[in-house]
Amino acid sequence: MRKKLLAIAAVGLMASATMTACDDSGDTGDASSDSGSTSGGGKARVGVILPDTQSSKRWGNDDPKYLKAAFDAADVPVEIQNAQGDRAKFQQIGESMINSGVKVLIIANLDSISGKAVLDKARAKKIPTIDYDRLTLNGGANYYVSFDNNKVGNLQAYGLIKCLETKGVQNPVIAQLNGSPSDNNAHLFKEGYEVPLNDKYDSAEFTKGPDQWVPDWDPKEATRIFEQMLEQAPKIRGVLAANDGIGDAVIKVLRKKKLNGVVPVTGQDATLEGLQNLLTGEQCMTVYKAVELEAVNAANLAVKLYKNEKPAVTNTIKDPESGGYVPFVSLPPLAITLKNINKVVAEDKYVPQADLCKGKYLALCREHGVGTFVKTDADEDENR
Ligand code: GAL
Repeated sequence: MRKKLLAIAAVGLMASATMTACDDSGDTGDASSDSGSTSGGGKARVGVILPDTQSSKRWGNDDPKYLKAAFDAADVPVEIQNAQGDRAKFQQIGESMINSGVKVLIIANLDSISGKAVLDKARAKKIPTIDYDRLTLNGGANYYVSFDNNKVGNLQAYGLIKCLETKGVQNPVIAQLNGSPSDNNAHLFKEGYEVPLNDKYDSAEFTKGPDQWVPDWDPKEATRIFEQMLEQAPKIRGVLAANDGIGDAVIKVLRKKKLNGVVPVTGQDATLEGLQNLLTGEQCMTVYKAVELEAVNAANLAVKLYKNEKPAVTNTIKDPESGGYVPFVSLPPLAITLKNINKVVAEDKYVPQADLCKGKYLALCREHGVGTFVKTDADEDENR
């Protein structure tokens, strides 16, 4: 998958790369793939602002890595910075990029207010903008690249329902730990998982338990919130956790009550910790969003804009705040359980086997046929 993906990306980007982008000094610039800034000042380049490094491992590792690779493949200079969860810093980085000659600006906002402040400044300077992963409400970005986030929530709900059915749990009390209320994605995930869950509540097959937002996706907040939930509703027997970080916090609380593995917990982002919790049976499922695909698509649009081309994106999404329609590149999420964990490990190598199958997880990788331990039909026959 990765090689094919990159090949498509490279062809796509190179096809539109009619010139090597660099400023007078010939410096094509470069981008640090960590949270630090780059030598970006003053030259034509693409600016990228990522939100934080705590809410999900992806923002500090995967997104910068894949974005840099995609721009390097197109030989377009890029400056990638991370706001470290600080809304004022986010705006400061935006202002600095806009005032120092970025030709295109990509943002994954911390919230729509600080995101809009940056997008408004970019628009005032006629700099085209891309909302990356998260829509900036009333921000007026020129493009939005993300996954089908309602679908993410849908997959989480059906994953939880399946795990509860497999365990034969009757009329479980369901707790919901939503993402950050300041993240429009969290609202889309919630819309997605509440359709199947509300059906179960309405038919009295499930009982709706506590339902709270987790500010800034903060796992420490998730711990505090879920400890309180379990105190008030000790009969909780299913948890809809909106991402792996929240799911891991919930699992750590359940361990103290010896309910880990008994109470199914969902997640999102197919992180290392999420897959480890799948292997131990403490997490029911996660949702894999091929960050590389998201980064390549965003970079592809940005490269075209950098070259003063106007990418044609016919699909749109309605901004619920402005009522406007934003051109939207929507990508498919995938539910991951132990059954298809090798999509993430062996196929895409998004979580390398070497990172996952070590220590106490090595035996579990062998048991579940993860990576090179994948079980052949012969193995399966032998174990029957
Ligand atoms: C969401 C994003 C998820 C996850 C979460 C926590 O906006 O779509 O992939 O990263 O933030 O940061």
